[in-house]
Amino acid sequence: MLQLLDMSAAPTLLVALSVVSLALVALEPRLRLLARLFPSQHAGTANKVSEKPIKPTTLPDPDPLLDFDLATAKTRDHLYVNKTLRWPYFQTMAHQPMQINNWIEVDSNYEREMAYKARVVRDHPDNTILSLAENDAGCGELLQTLVDYLPKRYPTMFEKLAGDGIRNKVLGEDHPNCDKLTGTDALHVVSRLVQDDFLMGREREDGHVYFVGGVVAIPGFYDFSAKVGKSMREVHEHVPQFNEKILVSVERTLKRFKPEEPFERSSWEIVDDLNSHQHRIATLQGEETLAEDLHPKDYIFRIDHQTFRKLPKTNAIIFGVHPILRRLETFADLPLIPALLATVHEQGDEQLMKYKLNFRYQDKMLPYLKELTQSQIDRGLIKGDENVADFRALLEKVKA
Ligand code: HEM
Repeated sequence: MLQLLDMSAAPTLLVALSVVSLALVALEPRLRLLARLFPSQHAGTANKVSEKPIKPTTLPDPDPLLDFDLATAKTRDHLYVNKTLRWPYFQTMAHQPMQINNWIEVDSNYEREMAYKARVVRDHPDNTILSLAENDAGCGELLQTLVDYLPKRYPTMFEKLAGDGIRNKVLGEDHPNCDKLTGTDALHVVSRLVQDDFLMGREREDGHVYFVGGVVAIPGFYDFSAKVGKSMREVHEHVPQFNEKILVSVERTLKRFKPEEPFERSSWEIVDDLNSHQHRIATLQGEETLAEDLHPKDYIFRIDHQTFRKLPKTNAIIFGVHPILRRLETFADLPLIPALLATVHEQGDEQLMKYKLNFRYQDKMLPYLKELTQSQIDRGLIKGDENVADFRALLEKVKA
């Protein structure tokens, strides 16, 4: 070959080769960007430029909590994360990407709440663990996902057993051969592992997402069995503004998000007891209000931490719900929170507030929130003229 070349052309050839290499080096970032934006069309180009994967296709493992102490364990403070409380208050998706460590948050109420859940499942077998046939494999994958996750995240509480089982060291229960379980058999084991409920969704051939089953022991307000088999539109029928304002985005998000893109959100309600299966407030009729002898300091602010994952094998949509209950009295030292809650009730959208059953508790709660706010002003925690929407910034000041 060399002999065939005219040697006088060699310097020109070398310069040409250098120019081409320099151009390739300079272009590489752009080629990568193109490959990332249009993965299928540019997969060939991307492979020539770099052998590295362009996007993770699976989630990382959670970080182990090696010193986890169940007796003092707390969830993150959901008043301050995930826009649970906000002003102005509209119906929005209000969802955020979720770090995998936050999928399952165990706290010191674990044993009490697991015992409560077991009683509810035993007493209401037809309304706590249900699954349609199309969801059988999804239930198995949910269980296996937990069997993989829990010993990694909470090694002091859970241990993987040979043959794909799991030991719950806190409750003293072994669940062998989890990989063999599907449908409600798998869901029964799921109900013995974590405080969270799991609602399960599935996209059907008609392009809509349906509620196809789950472990729903602590919904608080609604009847699980009446919702199973329904589309997102039907499920959210009673939620003000949902179908008009956010249904399309919710369905699009649920269909499109990938296993490596979990997200979270949260919602809140005022309740009057710890009976998370069905709070007493949800059973009141007509104009009834909360019990006269229940002081508003003992009203309970229920935050549902809601997590969304898509499972890679079955495409099951997993909607986890962990209710976190705290008495209103615990807001006394949280700057602006009582004022914010009062503003949401006094000026928030009427329909949204009615959905939260405000008419059953508001008349007694508002004067109490005003008292807490006045006490915060008196103690110099707040000035009293702040914008309630800025409550997060004030917590930073208190901590500093
Ligand atoms: C598999 C997916 C889902 C299922 C099975 C589901 C199920 C439910 C159910 C049963 C209720 C109670 C309805 C009632 O009171 O009658 C509810 C309420 C609600 N859902 Fe969903 N949902 C799903 C996804 C979503 C998503 C992705 C969002 C928004 C990002 C969302 C937002 C809401 C809202 C705003 C409410 C009113 C209570 C609250 O503030 O959370 N849902 N959902």
